Amino acid sequence: KKWYAVLGDPIAQSMSPTMHDQWFGQSNLNATYVPIHVEPQNLEQAIQSLRTLGCSGWNVTVPHKQAILPFLDEVDDSAKLMDAVNTVYQTNDGKLIGTNTDGAGFVRSLEEFAGDDGVDAPVLIIGAGGAARGIAFALQSAGYGPLYFANRTASKATELAAQMRNAYVFSIEEAEQRLGKFGLVVQTTSVGMNFAQEGVPLNPKNIARDAIVADIIYNPLETEFLQAAEQAGARIMNGVGMFVHQGALAFEKWTGVYPDTKKMIETITMKVG
Ligand code: ATR
Repeated sequence: KKWYAVLGDPIAQSMSPTMHDQWFGQSNLNATYVPIHVEPQNLEQAIQSLRTLGCSGWNVTVPHKQAILPFLDEVDDSAKLMDAVNTVYQTNDGKLIGTNTDGAGFVRSLEEFAGDDGVDAPVLIIGAGGAARGIAFALQSAGYGPLYFANRTASKATELAAQMRNAYVFSIEEAEQRLGKFGLVVQTTSVGMNFAQEGVPLNPKNIARDAIVADIIYNPLETEFLQAAEQAGARIMNGVGMFVHQGALAFEKWTGVYPDTKKMIETITMKVG
């Protein structure tokens, strides 16, 4: 029987084991997925143990996404670009490869959400940290743009935009005033996350009707930011879809199967709600 894992600190809250175990069942694969609590000082030893014990692949979550890079045999272009790994898979000859499905998972969830209506340009990304970076590069390589960044610390937005084609920077105030021009707004900061910070990173009252407003947060299901955007007439998308699709892309790396995502989004939504 093959086995898979997720490494994090903390890890008890992770919904990945439930999700992947359901997918293994649905795909008639004889495999299981276990959460493993790994503290930062034990990461290298934990990776060595997973090798010894024959783990076929695993996910990596906070706080190990960057720290794991030196302990793998190779990292692919997506992980290099994001300087972070969320998924590890094994090649036939036993090499451990790090990849990153977070950004591509966001794009998949966006496309599933938008359906035939598609996504209008331009795109505003709120934030300029690791999550913003992953999503921005994935959006750009899927052909979306131009991209605008608005971040509390403007210098970080400028630095990120400078690494991309067709990317620009707005101050938070400019973004609020000119919000009506965007077809898609993506909220990537931790503002509004349960037990993190209250409030909104910018006021969405000037959003265009029918624009898509996405938040990567899924706990709570509707941040204050999404609620305000919905009241202003936007179509809102929470972070459950990104979570499910980053997992589906990992599952596909491991098994060759892209699992059902629509039902899984409903399942996860019920668990969080
Ligand atoms: P992640 O990997 O989750 O993106 P990160 O790299 O630490 O985490 O980035 C956090 C992002 O959330 C940054 O854009 C940060 O803004 P700064 O660059 O100004 O720090 C943003 N952020 C965090 N707390 C915030 C707050 N209270 N208000 C506004 N932005 C905040």
